[in-house]
Amino acid sequence: MVTIKLKGGEIGRTSISVFLLSEEALAKFSSPLIDKMSLTHIKQDFKAKTNEVYLCYSNLERFILVGLGKERDVTLQIVRLAIYEAVNKLRTMNLLSSTFIVPSLPMVEETSLVKAMVQSILLSDYNFDKYLTCEEKKLKHLDMVTLFKSVWAQELKEDVKKTITIVRGTLYTRDLQNERADLVTPDYLEIVAKRLATECSLPIKVLSYEELKKKGLNLLTAVGQGAASLPRLILLEYRGNPTSKTWIGLVGKGITFDSGGLNMKPTNFIENMYLDKSGVASVLGVLKVASELKLKKNIIGVLAIAENAVDAKSYKPQAILKSYKGLTVEVTNTDAEGRLVLADALSYVQDHYAITILIDIATLTGACVVALGEYASGVFSNDDTLRNDLIVSGERCFERVWPLPIFPEHTEEMKSSFADLKNSSKSRYGGACTGAAFLQQFINEGVKWAHIDASSSITSEQRAFIPMNGTGFGVHLLIEYLLRTG
Ligand code: BES
Ligand code: MN
Ligand code: ZN
Repeated sequence: MVTIKLKGGEIGRTSISVFLLSEEALAKFSSPLIDKMSLTHIKQDFKAKTNEVYLCYSNLERFILVGLGKERDVTLQIVRLAIYEAVNKLRTMNLLSSTFIVPSLPMVEETSLVKAMVQSILLSDYNFDKYLTCEEKKLKHLDMVTLFKSVWAQELKEDVKKTITIVRGTLYTRDLQNERADLVTPDYLEIVAKRLATECSLPIKVLSYEELKKKGLNLLTAVGQGAASLPRLILLEYRGNPTSKTWIGLVGKGITFDSGGLNMKPTNFIENMYLDKSGVASVLGVLKVASELKLKKNIIGVLAIAENAVDAKSYKPQAILKSYKGLTVEVTNTDAEGRLVLADALSYVQDHYAITILIDIATLTGACVVALGEYASGVFSNDDTLRNDLIVSGERCFERVWPLPIFPEHTEEMKSSFADLKNSSKSRYGGACTGAAFLQQFINEGVKWAHIDASSSITSEQRAFIPMNGTGFGVHLLIEYLLRTG
């Protein structure tokens, strides 16, 4: 993993330095490291348009210049993308140690700028390449990045440290997401959760299949009963505020593989469903970061873990199940399994902890991806403040969430003639909303609840610093939310 160092004072000699330049900054650009003649050439070849990358030499040193476009149009995201271009250039050229100069930009606040730079450096250096045995096929990883700025205020240094901790959490989540389902079974997720619990000294409780059966979490057990590794519910406590008895609940969907069950997914839809545990991966990442940052909040992490398998023992279409809450559910589609495991997990945690805020995160519907693309995740909430706080937090760290509604008509569609609810609506329209409407039936009066339908947890192609497959979405968003809200 790349080490990030901070340097102040004089820039001095560097082996390779990276400058982010707006068009205006380029016009005024000069550096003690670059001779006059070279500077003239540079300004002929390089125009500082967004994402324009330029490599040059002067005085036996190397420089990478990346354009930011017009000064007044520079945003944090333009900076993140510019950093990605620089990191990618360095990695492809095997230049693994470099100095990035923090630019001064009139339109971007300095702390946010430095945080975005650190974030993008770490995210851009990521690949899931542990299974590539041929070194030549691997893009090299950076060793060291020095961030240069003449003066580093103590507070800014702390912010950098914090950001590194958060983004490492994102990378941890990416790694867990990207491991395939032959390795990551429910048994394996339990091992991962226990390892984190030990490392962060978090009390952990694992409810086995038998215990879930005994307690009546029949929706969760039904989804996982066809798999070789049986379903389980895991609760991890992070107690950052021992004086308070209330908890923020974070519930993750942890389907280790979603074959669709007997309503099986076809080719071209089944392949990436090892990523259906992304919600759980995000919750684990959040707990890791929360404990490393010593957040002053009580967080109860709930992992709803099952494999939705095809087997003689699999739950059957049209099964009628009794949920932990007591509501009965007709399984009109075994592929709408996420809402089933979440419903029991949500009910269980509300029953055992004094929950004030409850957030679930889940790759719940393909419909949400259809609605928003892979660029944002859907957020549903019964509380305007919670919804807005999440939207603002997501905007800040570029893990965007976008509001979607639960109308009474969506709720109506989830009623069954043979049970209290069905798990999938007759109509395909508004699939993300009907999924959320189902979950809402399991939320207690007075609990502020948000459901994140994590369309941006899984991507079908790399987009700059967001890799293909597991993106680590949710960790930065939720930590930002927890930090922002005191
Ligand atoms: N895990 C899927 C949803 C999904 C698919 C998320 C692809 C991200 C990418 C979920 O369990 C599912 O299969 N949902 C169904 C629900 C339907 C049967 C009501 C869907 O979206 O088609
Ligand atoms: Mn499914
Ligand atoms: Zn699923």
